[in-house]
Amino acid sequence: MDKKEKIRLTKLAPNCGCAAKVGPGTLTGILGKLPKFEDEQLLVGTETSDDAAVYKISNDLALIQTLDFFTPVADDPYTFGQVAAANALSDVYAMGGEPKIALNIVAFPNHMDTEILGEILKGGADKVMEAGAVLAGGHTIQDDTPKYGLSVTGFVHPDKLWKNFGACAGDALILTKPLGAGIINTAIKAELASEEETEGVLKSMTCLNKYARDIMRNYRVHACTDVTGFGLGGHALEMAQGSNKTLVLDTKKLPVLRGAREHACMGLIPAGAYRNREHVERAGITSTAEVCMEDIVFDPQTSGGLLLAVHPEDADAALRELSKLELPCAVIGEVTERRDSIIILK
Ligand code: CO
Ligand code: CO
Repeated sequence: MDKKEKIRLTKLAPNCGCAAKVGPGTLTGILGKLPKFEDEQLLVGTETSDDAAVYKISNDLALIQTLDFFTPVADDPYTFGQVAAANALSDVYAMGGEPKIALNIVAFPNHMDTEILGEILKGGADKVMEAGAVLAGGHTIQDDTPKYGLSVTGFVHPDKLWKNFGACAGDALILTKPLGAGIINTAIKAELASEEETEGVLKSMTCLNKYARDIMRNYRVHACTDVTGFGLGGHALEMAQGSNKTLVLDTKKLPVLRGAREHACMGLIPAGAYRNREHVERAGITSTAEVCMEDIVFDPQTSGGLLLAVHPEDADAALRELSKLELPCAVIGEVTERRDSIIILK
């Protein structure tokens, strides 16, 4: 009997991908109790919940350090490896940087066919190769639920660093991948997703944010983050709070994966979406959007796109270039001076 045929990796984990993240509210409480570290060369630390840590080495070189790993988000081991690696590499791209060295982080069950592990690692290695970085080692432990990801070190010029705050009133908000990955992954687990829907989400999750970053480097980016476990709403909130601005998101303009809106309307929503919603609601939100579209705003993404606050004069040209890439992207809203609600959905 072919074991690979039989095992559906996503069945081995209660939450898949970034939906397995610990909620944003819980995290803030715990992290606040840790001792504060101070170092003049540390350009980005824990205070701003940014995508990666950044350490200045010299006036023209800073080191980016990040890690990310999670439970299977795809049944096919090679695809799972690709998604986990694309997601981990993304935090370097979200800082405007270039990944250089990657290390594997692996948890794998004793009793499982090691060929499956080989496929996961191959998927990861191929993405690291595509990123132009080198895979230089890793660490493996035994665990009942497989987990995979990368620790990634990258470089960036300190003046070209993108932070998740610094958005200016009037900036256009650009999103470079479609939303709804958590919803489609939930539908896949429930065996309710069509083949096209499954293909669509896998194509999006395995796509490196490298290509969007390459384009956006040539424009005036004031803030950037990647949209992952906290959903568009949660990551937009971090940008709004860090920038002391309000973010207005036009849900009619959101790029959405095929089938996500329909599944959301049917109530197929991952648990993480409710946590994300509560977290943003506590901070202050006004919405006149359709409920299914709100669910998409709070849907936890795995290997989601970049959310960028861009100088308004650059938005059209940037979007024209981004539209030549394979995934749908859009100007999804704007930044305004701080209002009563920190996030406005319309
Ligand atoms: Co991130
Ligand atoms: Co991350």
